[in-house]
Amino acid sequence: MRKSGDFEYDDLQGLVRFAYGKLPETCFMLLNIADASAAKQWLSNAPISNAVSTDPLPKTALHIAFTVAGLRQLGLTDAVIESFPDEFIVGMSGDESRSRRLGDVDENAPTRWQWGGDSDNLPHVLLLLYAEKNAINNWRKTVEDSFFSTAFTLLKELPTTDFRNAEPFGFADGISQPLIDWARQQSTDAHDRDSYSNLLAIGEIVLGYPNEYSQYNPRPLFNPKTEPAAMVLPNAEDQPALKDFGRNGCYLVLRQLDQDVPGFWQFADQASDHDSDKRQQLAEVMVGRHLDGSPLVAKSKIDIPGIDSNDANNLFTYNDDPQGLKCPISAHVRRANPRTGEMTPGHSNWLTRFLKILGFCNKRPDDDLVASSRFHRLLRRGRSYGPVLSPDAALKPDAPVAERGLQFICLVANISRQFEFVQNAWVMNSKFGGIQLERDPLLGHRRQLYDGDSTNHFNRSDPTGLTQKICALPQFITVRGGGYFFMPGLRAIKYLAALPNHGSDKVS
Ligand code: HEM
Repeated sequence: MRKSGDFEYDDLQGLVRFAYGKLPETCFMLLNIADASAAKQWLSNAPISNAVSTDPLPKTALHIAFTVAGLRQLGLTDAVIESFPDEFIVGMSGDESRSRRLGDVDENAPTRWQWGGDSDNLPHVLLLLYAEKNAINNWRKTVEDSFFSTAFTLLKELPTTDFRNAEPFGFADGISQPLIDWARQQSTDAHDRDSYSNLLAIGEIVLGYPNEYSQYNPRPLFNPKTEPAAMVLPNAEDQPALKDFGRNGCYLVLRQLDQDVPGFWQFADQASDHDSDKRQQLAEVMVGRHLDGSPLVAKSKIDIPGIDSNDANNLFTYNDDPQGLKCPISAHVRRANPRTGEMTPGHSNWLTRFLKILGFCNKRPDDDLVASSRFHRLLRRGRSYGPVLSPDAALKPDAPVAERGLQFICLVANISRQFEFVQNAWVMNSKFGGIQLERDPLLGHRRQLYDGDSTNHFNRSDPTGLTQKICALPQFITVRGGGYFFMPGLRAIKYLAALPNHGSDKVS
C-alpha cells in the first residue's frame, strides 16, 4: 500500500505534471476510431508517457484523451458513461444554453466551428505529440506507423507553432500555474486557509483524490465481483472495495481560439492616438501583465504558499490594488484568476471573511464577492499556432492576415466548476467584481445585453483615480473549435484496451 505522499506518477499521464517547455515541437491530432479492435490493440501497447521524472527528460512524449463518443466507441457501456458528469457527456457544443454561457454566440457559435461543432466533425480521440526541435516528424511517423491506417482516421490536424513562451499578441505566456500539492501537505479546511495559496489539492486536477472541498469528484467506479476485468484498475481511495476508473485521470478542455493580432494592435494604437508608449500600456492593462510577463501590481509583502519567493512574476496578489488602479479589475489575468478577489483587505481572518460571504461587511459598492479562486483554478497546457507577427509588424496597414491563435488547453477535475465557471462567471460576464457592461477585453464577445446595453467597453483608471473609458472594443478572439476530453490514467487505458469487442467493431 502506498503512503499518501507517495504519488502514483507511473499511472499519471505526464502532461499533468510537465508542460514540456523543452519539447517545443508538437503535433495535435483529432482522430476518429475506424476499427475499435485495432484501436484497442494499439492502446494495449501505446507508448503513452507517464509522469515519472527522469533526468534527462525524454526527448518525445505522447498523450491521449477521449471524448464521450470515443469512450463509447471503445465499448464503455451507457451505464458506465452515465457516471461521468453531464457536461462531459453532453459536450462543449452539445446544448444551446451551455454555448450561451460559454460565450459561444454569433461569430463564436459552434455552427461556424471547423471541428467539434456538430455531429459530422466531433472527434473520438485527441492525440498530443511533443518532441525536441526538428524531431516531431520522426516521432509522428513512429507513432503513425504503429497503428494509424487501420485503427484511426484523421479528422483534423490542429496547427501549432513554437512561439517561444509567448502567445500570438506577443505577451509572455505560461507564467502563472497552480502548484499541485502532490505530497498532500496543505489543509483544505476553510478555517485553516484565510489567505491566497497557489498550492492546490491534487483532487482539483486529478480524479480519485480529495479536492479543495476535501471531497472526491464523481467518476466511474466498478465492483470487481461483477466486473472482474476492472481488477487492473486501482482501488478507490474513498471506497476501497471498488475499483476506480477515474483515478489518475483528468478532463482536458480544448478550444481553438483565433487571435486577430493586427486588429488588436491597430485598435490599441488608434485608442492611444498613435503614441507607442500609451499603445503598449493599453495593451498591457487589457492583459493585466507587461509584455515581458512581469505583473502590473507590486510584489506581495507576505509569502504565498506554492510560489517560490524568487519567482518575481508570480509573487503578487491584488490586495494592494482593490480598485484596479494598477491592474484593472477587468484585465484578462485578473478575471481569469482574481487571486484574493474574495478576501479584500479588512477581511483578513476567517470570521470577517465568513461575515463578508454572508454579505454583512460590504462597505463599498465594488466590495462585492468574487467566488473563492481556489475552487476555480485551471492547469493550462495550450500551444500557439499560425505565423508569428510582431506587434510592430501587426501595426502596418498591410499586415498579413492569417489564421493564428491559441490551441487553449486546460486540465481540470471538474469541467463545470473550473473551466465553465471561469469562462462564464468571470471571463464572459458583463458584471464582474463591481464592474458592469464589460467583458474580458481579450476574450469577450461584444454582444449587447437583452435590454440593449452595449458591453464593448473597457475602463481603466490610473493611480490618480482618473478613468479612461475605451469604447467600441472589437472582438479580438474567435472560437474555431472545441471539445471536452477525458485523459485517463495509464491503468484505465489498459482497462479500455481490454474491453470486449462487439461483433464487427469496424465503424462504417
Ligand atoms: C487566445 C486566447 C488567450 C490569450 C491570448 C491569453 C493570454 C494570456 C496571457 C498573456 C496570460 C498571462 C501569462 C500567464 O500567466 O501565463 C494569461 C493568463 C491566464 N489565462 Fe489566458 N489567454 C487566452 C485564453 C484563456 C482562456 C480561454 C482562459 C480560461 C477560460 C484563460 C485563463 C487564463 C488563466 C487562468 C491565466 C492565469 C492567471 C493568473 O493566475 O494570474 N486564458 N492568459
